[in-house]
Amino acid sequence: MNRFNIALDGPAGAGKSTVARLVASSLGFVYVDTGAMYRAVTWKVLQLGLRPDDAEEVARATREMDIKLARSDRGQLVYVDGEDITDYIRSAEINKCVSLIASNPQVRELLVDKQKALAEGKGVVMDGRDIGTKVLPDAEVKVFLTASARRRAERRYAEAARPDQTIEEMEAEISNRDRIDSSREVSPLRKADDAVLLDTTEMELAEVVDAVLSLCRSYV
Ligand code: DC
Repeated sequence: MNRFNIALDGPAGAGKSTVARLVASSLGFVYVDTGAMYRAVTWKVLQLGLRPDDAEEVARATREMDIKLARSDRGQLVYVDGEDITDYIRSAEINKCVSLIASNPQVRELLVDKQKALAEGKGVVMDGRDIGTKVLPDAEVKVFLTASARRRAERRYAEAARPDQTIEEMEAEISNRDRIDSSREVSPLRKADDAVLLDTTEMELAEVVDAVLSLCRSYV
C-alpha cells in the first residue's frame, strides 16, 4: 500500500482525535496527537512552578524536557522525562493554560520540528491546529473538522471520565480557547486553502470517519 500523510485540523472538541485514531487504525497508520505535546509542555511548566507567560523560561524548559509519544491499547501515551503523564494532561488546570503555552513562538518551533520528524516516514495521521498549514503543508490529505461550540462542549463532557466542569463551563472555555488559538500571531488556527472542510455538528462519528477515508481512497 502507498504510504501518505493525513493532516487533521480544527478547533477543540471537533472530534479530531477520535476520528484520527479510527482512520489511523483502519489504514494501519500511526496516530500523532500534537495537542498532547503542547499539553505535556504545560504540565511540565506547572510542575516546575514557572509562570506560563514567562516566554523565555517556558522555552528553556521545553528545550530541556524529553517528550515521547507511545502507542498502547488505551491510545497514545505521553511521557515527559520518562514519566507517563497521560492521565494528567486533560485537567481543567492544563486546559486553562495550554493556549498561552501554545502561543509561545519558541515552544511552537521546537514542537513543530519534532512533529515534522515524526511524519518523515509517511503513514501518519496527525491532528492539531496548524498541521495542514505549517507542520505538513505537503500532506496528501488535509481535512479541517469543525462543529458548533455547544456540540463540541457536549462531546468533551461525554468523553471525560470524571468531568470537573459543567457543559456550560466547557463551552465557555472552548470558545475562549478558540479565540486565543485563532488570533495568535504564530500559526493561528486556520483551514489550509487546500483542506476539505467537514462540519460535524450534525454528523455521526462513523460518517465523519467514512468521509475522511473516502478522501484517502485515491492514495490507498
Ligand atoms: O487539541 P488539544 O485541545 O489537545 O490542544 C491543546 C492546545 O494546544 C490547544 O489550545 C491548541 C494548541 N495546539 C496548537 O496550538 N497546535 C497544535 N498543532 C495542537 C494543539
